[in-house]
Amino acid sequence: MTVRLDVLPAADWATFVANELAARLRAEPALRLCLPTGDTPAPVYAALPGALAAARSGLGSATVVLLDEWLGLPAGDPARCDTRLRHELLDRVGRPSDLHLIRVDELQPEAAAAAHDVAVAEGLDLALLGLGTNGHVGFNEPGSTADSPTRVVELDHSTLNAAVGRYGATRRPAGGVTVGLARLLEAVEIWLLVTGHRKATVLARALEAPETPDCPASFLRRHPALRVLADEPAAAGLSAVLTRSGRIRGARDGI
Ligand code: PGA
Repeated sequence: MTVRLDVLPAADWATFVANELAARLRAEPALRLCLPTGDTPAPVYAALPGALAAARSGLGSATVVLLDEWLGLPAGDPARCDTRLRHELLDRVGRPSDLHLIRVDELQPEAAAAAHDVAVAEGLDLALLGLGTNGHVGFNEPGSTADSPTRVVELDHSTLNAAVGRYGATRRPAGGVTVGLARLLEAVEIWLLVTGHRKATVLARALEAPETPDCPASFLRRHPALRVLADEPAAAGLSAVLTRSGRIRGARDGI
């Protein structure tokens, strides 16, 4: 089992990922995509209209499933994942054929998680994921295991601080709803998007340290088609063998 690693100069990273996604949508227009929000994918989404135009493809026949959502933030809050997905992606490229946001305004948290899991359970062709500095993917915070379901979660301090500090939330979130690691591992393909020097340590932990619930992203190495798309600053902590080869062996093969 191998992980495919692409390391790009920081200036080229977003365009590269956008072009890869546009090519994927061209080859498979009815792709079922799980999409993250946050600072990592934002430049990819900004580059996507141009990439889709160049590839003569679009989101119009695709299904988009949102990866996670905050609890306790009002609709329209700038930090809300659905707000960011709309502003940063859908307002630019148009709506997909099917859009599954997480219905935290209409439903109680557990019911919203259960309803979202119904959409996820129909299957994902491609899950794009960011990586938290604490090792989370989605809101699968430290302590999550490979069999974690789609669920309501308590959030780590670093995650709550990001909401208020970096994302401009109008109040402190009460928690989150996330697609579970178990469902993410069921996706046909996973692309882990990682940028910036502040992610270098956690990316090395995720890919090269032993698998552990302390770093939930480490479980992604179990996936048969994990692709890591990193910029050079984020890849700075990876071993020379790994970055030189561009491919690393998965945990089960004993790195
Ligand atoms: P970021 O967040 O893309 O805003 O750095 C990633 C994450 O916490 O999953």
